[in-house]
Amino acid sequence: MNTLYPQHLSSLMQRYENAMAHFELDAIVIASGHKTYYFQDDHSHPFHGYSGAQQWLPFDISADTFLIIQPGQKPTLVWPVRDDFWHTPNPIPEGEWQNHWHITPARRDDKWWQSLPKQSAWLGPKPDLEKWDIASCDGLNAYVDFAKAVKTPFEIQALQRASQAAVHGHLAAKQAFLAGQSELDIHLAFLSASQQTSAQEPYPGIVGLNEHAAVLHYEHKASHAIPNSRTLLIDAGASCHGYASDITRTYTRHQDDFSALITGLDALEQSLCQQAVTGVAFRDLHQSCLVGVAQLLNDHKICSLSMEEQLEKRIPQVFFPHGLGHLLGLQVHDVGGHQVDTSGQLSLPDDQAPFLRLTRTLEEDMVITIEPGLYFIPMLIEKMQADVAHHGCDLERIQHFIPYGGIRIEDNLQIKSGSSVNLTRDAFHAIDSD
Ligand code: GLY
Ligand code: MN
Ligand code: MN
Repeated sequence: MNTLYPQHLSSLMQRYENAMAHFELDAIVIASGHKTYYFQDDHSHPFHGYSGAQQWLPFDISADTFLIIQPGQKPTLVWPVRDDFWHTPNPIPEGEWQNHWHITPARRDDKWWQSLPKQSAWLGPKPDLEKWDIASCDGLNAYVDFAKAVKTPFEIQALQRASQAAVHGHLAAKQAFLAGQSELDIHLAFLSASQQTSAQEPYPGIVGLNEHAAVLHYEHKASHAIPNSRTLLIDAGASCHGYASDITRTYTRHQDDFSALITGLDALEQSLCQQAVTGVAFRDLHQSCLVGVAQLLNDHKICSLSMEEQLEKRIPQVFFPHGLGHLLGLQVHDVGGHQVDTSGQLSLPDDQAPFLRLTRTLEEDMVITIEPGLYFIPMLIEKMQADVAHHGCDLERIQHFIPYGGIRIEDNLQIKSGSSVNLTRDAFHAIDSD
């Protein structure tokens, strides 16, 4: 942990002191959240702590944990003591981090919050505690969310480790695909090599063979093996104390015109990664991606229209219907991607790119994904045929590509001014050359 964690804590403390000064507060109480249960069941959903609480601690935060932040004071961790012989006990993790906290063990009935200053506000899921009377504060959420986009060195290190863990999984998944395994077995190979259970994944891994590669968020895992599967699209990540990686690779078995399309999209992805530097408006980069997709459609004889005509008729969006990327952090689609400033004012995507999750200008040490795609989605192709006169697309060639599904290539980038750091490709290079 060395000095990164203490530095991270002081950056957070500075941000929260600014927030308390801005909203005239004496304390902020952050709740991790509580477990939720399946309907009429005593089994709970997998627990993911509120990111605003997780951000303060160097281990996975558990439910019913509270943080108390006050200006000029060591933060307090209210640790849930569980008198519960059904589940594992909840010991406080050992470590140097403890030197930076007051730790107050509390049972569910303890009214520890009653001694807080009058001007206190809470952040996070509303606690289901009896007599809880701390008010929320309008605007506080947006204020702290805006700053989450720019990561501290401690957060960058966690994101880097999350990429490394996932890359071990991706390499195992590729081998499982080449061995002709099922989607389920490919996913199990990914989980085993990245050392996680499916409940620990930062998002449900997407493992699509053949046509399933065209389903953007395909979450089913078919259990039958396909010895000669044509395509694997795997979009899967891992976490390091809450910080996520979000990585996609697309593989094919033979050298053919689909593998040529993968090579073309990979080159486009790398060029977009090179362009993703400080000062670039992400909307403009998304637009460059649409131009790049139009060029690919042209080069690979899928659409004969000029790039200008394609853009005017929105042909690239038929094959690339999602956004180019998003902020990445404790949440895979991290908060604040549409915020203009700390006030919470939004800059929403326009109808050229309705699913764009990031409309901000890139800043040093933001961590984002770059994830262009090119898919053959029958529903969108039929819609184009119905809606666009003179679309210029070669429908026979498209029919040839439909059994391959589609392609997405996704890397995680730490934004810098000259050239950004590609956390994902760095991890592939390091692990491949081991
Ligand atoms: N894995 C979801 C995404 O790429 O945004
Ligand atoms: Mn992804
Ligand atoms: Mn993504």
